[in-house]
Amino acid sequence: MKTYLVTGAAGFIGANYLKYILAKHDDIRVVVLDALTYAGNLGTIAKDIDNERCFFVRGDITNQELVDRLFGEYKFDYIVNFAAESHVDRSIENPQLFLMTNILGTQNLLDAARRAWVTGKDEHGYPTWRKGVRFHQVSTDEVYGSLDENGYFTEETPLCPHSPYSASKTGADMIVMAYFDTYKMPVTITRCSNNYGPYHFPEKLIPLIIKNILEGKKLPVYGDGSNVRDWLYVDDHCKAIDMVVNKGTNGEVYNVGGHNEKTNLEIVKLTIATIHKLMSDQPEYRNVLKKKVKNEDGTLSIDWINDDLISFVKDRLGHDQRYAIDPTRISEALGWTPETMFEEGIVKTIEWYLNNQEWVNEVTSGDYQKYYDEMYLKR
Ligand code: NAD
Ligand code: DAU
Repeated sequence: MKTYLVTGAAGFIGANYLKYILAKHDDIRVVVLDALTYAGNLGTIAKDIDNERCFFVRGDITNQELVDRLFGEYKFDYIVNFAAESHVDRSIENPQLFLMTNILGTQNLLDAARRAWVTGKDEHGYPTWRKGVRFHQVSTDEVYGSLDENGYFTEETPLCPHSPYSASKTGADMIVMAYFDTYKMPVTITRCSNNYGPYHFPEKLIPLIIKNILEGKKLPVYGDGSNVRDWLYVDDHCKAIDMVVNKGTNGEVYNVGGHNEKTNLEIVKLTIATIHKLMSDQPEYRNVLKKKVKNEDGTLSIDWINDDLISFVKDRLGHDQRYAIDPTRISEALGWTPETMFEEGIVKTIEWYLNNQEWVNEVTSGDYQKYYDEMYLKR
């Protein structure tokens, strides 16, 4: 039986990953370590924490004493590190927090693992490691910087981050690889493109657009909307991480992406059209609308759900133009392929939000409105 430490599993991808591995593997035990920042929501994973197979600890990955104690108590085999400050716009406002969590937090976990997993020294003075252990770092394609209209990021693309967020994730990747080179620590890294799906916090493009449409608010598109992102359904990302954690090669980086490139304007228009179609086909979904416009017959109108909601706003500083992943390595080495096409995934995602408005209300009940006003009223 493997015991996992999964950090950041009260957030978007970590929560989906937790549900994925608990459903897939009967013979595992998982400890979730999460600080429950604004982006973490215990309600998302409350049903998964049974205190038999899955345990929850509220705490910070930078806390050395806490992480050491957890290692002593649970004897982890795997660490899967999702915990991070993850939003580019917030990193532009407050870079230091990103460096603290994303770089120093990762380094703290690496050191705790080193203290717990090293068994001795080989004849060259390199540490020897307990069998079957692994540190997996969940990284991002943003470490590669930005592409023009041609080409893809491969694992050999030089690292060239632009935002404080991506610079901090790059720092984390470099320190993970330094532990492999220096100590031969068993590590792997995945670098994934933009995820979408259930439990995505509505500060990110797709859930923010869905939320705004339902409220009849303007849909803020940065710049001219021509920036391209390579969208991947979150379950496909979880599957990739599961494969790498269990079958990956130490010291290897794996790019994860699904050849689903779309401009932001395309994403926004597709989201508008999909919500309109769902509410046309299944009128009961209109009850979710917070903006209530009545037709003459008293039913709720959806005529106003159209592209007129789009509002082009001031661009993000240092806005990367295009991300696109070449996933050849993970496909060839581990047989990973994405299963959800964007056209299917976006419908599943929107339906999830329409059916889970309580979750949206819960996660946006705190400082969200203040954040939204500060971030968007000045654009
Ligand atoms: P998220 O912001 O939704 O969740 C982050 C989680 O980490 C939250 O639960 C938060 O409470 C927790 N956390 C933050 N700081 C912490 C700390 N100091 N100690 C313990 N927990 C802390 O993020 P996400 O979108 O789920 O991303 C997860 C990981 O995947 C991140 O490392 C991110 O860089 C990476 N990633 C994200 C995407 C994407 O599209 N969202 C794509 C590629 C890679
Ligand atoms: O590529 C992987 C990365 O994807 C992850 O490492 C990050 O953690 C994750 O947040 C995401 O970063 P992006 O900056 O690409 O995602 P975001 O949803 O913030 O923005 C997607 C695109 O949409 C980007 O070009 C900016 C634009 N945008 C975003 C918001 C929030 C808008 O036009 N309007 C908006 O209101």
